[in-house]
Amino acid sequence: MPTNNLLRLAICLLILTGIIANAQLNGSSPRQSFTPGVLWNDTQGNRINAHGGGVIFHDGRYYWFGEHKLAGRSEAQKAGGGVHCYSSANLSDWKDEGLVLSANLTNQLSDIAAGCILERPKVVFNAETRMFVMFFKLYPIGTGYDIGYVGVATATNVSGPYIYRHKFLGGSSAKGTGDFAIVRGDDGAMYHLAVRKPDKAFVAGRLRNDFLFPEGGYKLVEGVEDHTEAPAIVRRTEGFYLLGSGSTSWTPNAARSFFSTNLTGPYVSSGNPVTGVNPHNNLGPEKTFGGQISYIIPVVGKTNAYIAMFDQWKPEAPIEGGYIWLPLAFESGKPLVRWRDEWDLSVFGDK
Ligand code: GAL
Repeated sequence: MPTNNLLRLAICLLILTGIIANAQLNGSSPRQSFTPGVLWNDTQGNRINAHGGGVIFHDGRYYWFGEHKLAGRSEAQKAGGGVHCYSSANLSDWKDEGLVLSANLTNQLSDIAAGCILERPKVVFNAETRMFVMFFKLYPIGTGYDIGYVGVATATNVSGPYIYRHKFLGGSSAKGTGDFAIVRGDDGAMYHLAVRKPDKAFVAGRLRNDFLFPEGGYKLVEGVEDHTEAPAIVRRTEGFYLLGSGSTSWTPNAARSFFSTNLTGPYVSSGNPVTGVNPHNNLGPEKTFGGQISYIIPVVGKTNAYIAMFDQWKPEAPIEGGYIWLPLAFESGKPLVRWRDEWDLSVFGDK
């Protein structure tokens, strides 16, 4: 081999060794499997900080948006710092995309001034306006959890920055709404499904074409038990499955599930979808493995492949809150989330 080529080969080998060593140093070797309830780090080796989140798929990558919690603060001390985003090609290795919407640190009059409560961010893409629209539960400073607004932020790039636009009161109620899901209905319109305040009834409101505000009033969604929180909805050919929790603040309770052929109901209950025991805390279906659902991710490129995302809240040290991601299956027409210590995407098969 001529010396030139030998030299090139040596250089290539050196670069490759460097890349591998660097990847190992950064802890960025592919994780590939999911270990629910176990500390989950990003590709830099830092604990993932994206609670109460949701995931969207855009241009070949998944984007996970969640509550960014501040270290050293409890929920009572307003641990929320904004919305943190991570991206991944395989759903298990997450690259830090940073704080994509930050609480406003300089203007105390801003709706999202530091000290506000900003929870459960969800992002959807509007093909008409080419905007990524982010929704979140928003309680400006001094309002407590009494009046629940929906905060709206938009971005032209999926990974932000997101610009805070405005807030609205949903639910056709002067007290607004709490936990919610944003889902496309059969009519092609986007809907805000939410827990109405103060009675905790489940309601649905159609959003405007640009998604920025609700259009018209909200209707009562029949069949979803009152006091159902944390709604996560998945659409399949036969209809809509809704998973949720009971209403006990940060404390886990039993999960619930419902089915309807129409997004806005009426729904029928299909009971508690959870089965098995989380060996890390010995909690099973009665406490949803110690978690509360936040979102259902359809796995792109596979049929009947869904991941149910749960949060393990830690109100005294929210930044240490954990995640439980498990496959969501459908057996005899009922949703089923079975505990697994470790699993990977092969559980969904090839198709
Ligand atoms: C939960 C809700 C969380 C948070 C908490 C506060 O039920 O899902 O998002 O609002 O209550 O008590």
